[in-house]
Amino acid sequence: MEYNTNTNPFNKALFGDDFVWGVSTAAVQIEGAHDADGKGESIWDVFVRRKGKIKGNVHNCVACDFYNRYEEDINLIKQLNIPNFRFSISWSRIIPDGTETINQAGIDYYNRIIDHCLAIGVEPWITLYHWDLPHVLELKGGWTNREVVNWFTNFVKVCANAFGDRVKHWMVMNEPSVFTGAGYFFGLHAPGKTGLSNFLPAVHHVTLSIAAGGKVLRELLPQAEIGTTFSCSYIEPYSQKPRDVAAAKRVDALLNRLFVEPVLGLGYPFDDLPVSKGLKKYMLPGDEDKLAFDFDFIGLQNYTREIVKYSFFTPYIGASLVKAEKRHVPLTAMGWEVWPESIYHLLHKYNKYPEIRKIYLTESGAAFPDVYQDDVVHDPLRVAYLQEYLQQVLKAKNEGCEVSGYFIWTLTDNFEWAEGYHPRFGIIYVDFETQQRVIKSSGKWYADFLSGI
Ligand code: BGC
Repeated sequence: MEYNTNTNPFNKALFGDDFVWGVSTAAVQIEGAHDADGKGESIWDVFVRRKGKIKGNVHNCVACDFYNRYEEDINLIKQLNIPNFRFSISWSRIIPDGTETINQAGIDYYNRIIDHCLAIGVEPWITLYHWDLPHVLELKGGWTNREVVNWFTNFVKVCANAFGDRVKHWMVMNEPSVFTGAGYFFGLHAPGKTGLSNFLPAVHHVTLSIAAGGKVLRELLPQAEIGTTFSCSYIEPYSQKPRDVAAAKRVDALLNRLFVEPVLGLGYPFDDLPVSKGLKKYMLPGDEDKLAFDFDFIGLQNYTREIVKYSFFTPYIGASLVKAEKRHVPLTAMGWEVWPESIYHLLHKYNKYPEIRKIYLTESGAAFPDVYQDDVVHDPLRVAYLQEYLQQVLKAKNEGCEVSGYFIWTLTDNFEWAEGYHPRFGIIYVDFETQQRVIKSSGKWYADFLSGI
């Protein structure tokens, strides 16, 4: 297949003047400086030391060294004409003991980032929680302990007070289904806990915290635009057999509805996801109401679709995913199917909720095996992925779906959680030995696209 990286098949103007364009990152994946200037340990600092948990037994103590190179990297954002930068705050960097002591050096660091963004005309967007709970709080049960709602709201208050005078766009959490599923059910992510007895309380306390965090931000920063982000995948049954269709419905409820619907005031999807009835054990009287918050926007993050089959042997959910590699479809370096139509269907799906006021696509991108050769990194597959994905976004928008912005995941190649450094998602290549940055063809393409070429 031929990809043309020199010209854009369509124009940014087609999305309208108000459409928001950006790029997303997360503290754990880029900052490094894991113990610099008074930072406390996060659950990821501890998890990366556990043998066999991260591919290649690598760690993120340095990662992209963004802590020291933030100025250079934010300048690259500007150079690529990207107007909005989404980044997350490391809780343990600003409150090392999780709840009490403020580390001024941590606050100063994020102030430097924000001030540099504003000085060069890049709008900062903050994600408060992108998966890095302070380890001291994990020792007290982490997200499985209901006290976490208070710990979290305190963290939100500290951030709102420290950065709210300059930051106008906030996201409370990143992808709750991924960090509760991978971290508290499968044990694949930090903190490495497993089973329903960890997963269910974590789900409930995270959902309570999302709404509580939203309320704190609204109270302290009434002018701010406040949202929270969710991962989503378009789900299709493997066949039209009733068992497969019913299995697909359960997986859809788990991946696409479990966290969104309570936030929208619709409660947990107990009927379509029977295992979620176990959440009732952790709910106190009045909790249903506490789960809801009227967010200004919802951030959707979609990478692929899933094909679902009935499975007698899979506990709790009775369903399994048919791996993309077995379906002979185009794959990314994560083994995920390249299927841009997914976002088109998902925009239609979420558009049906009258409670959602505004949607930003807060992450979209792909990992491919990029190679640095002759001073360039040519990544035509990523350019094609982004172009095709955006075409689907535009199609849905033109059909009346609400969608107000698009953020590429991600700025630079980085620490891809349990996958280590192998999957490269960046539009800027990083040589992790030298920390040299090289703008990939996709970065150049985005820059041209954003300048209206
Ligand atoms: C997360 C990112 C992650 C990306 C690719 C999203 O689930 O928010 O942190 O790197 O997907 O896996």
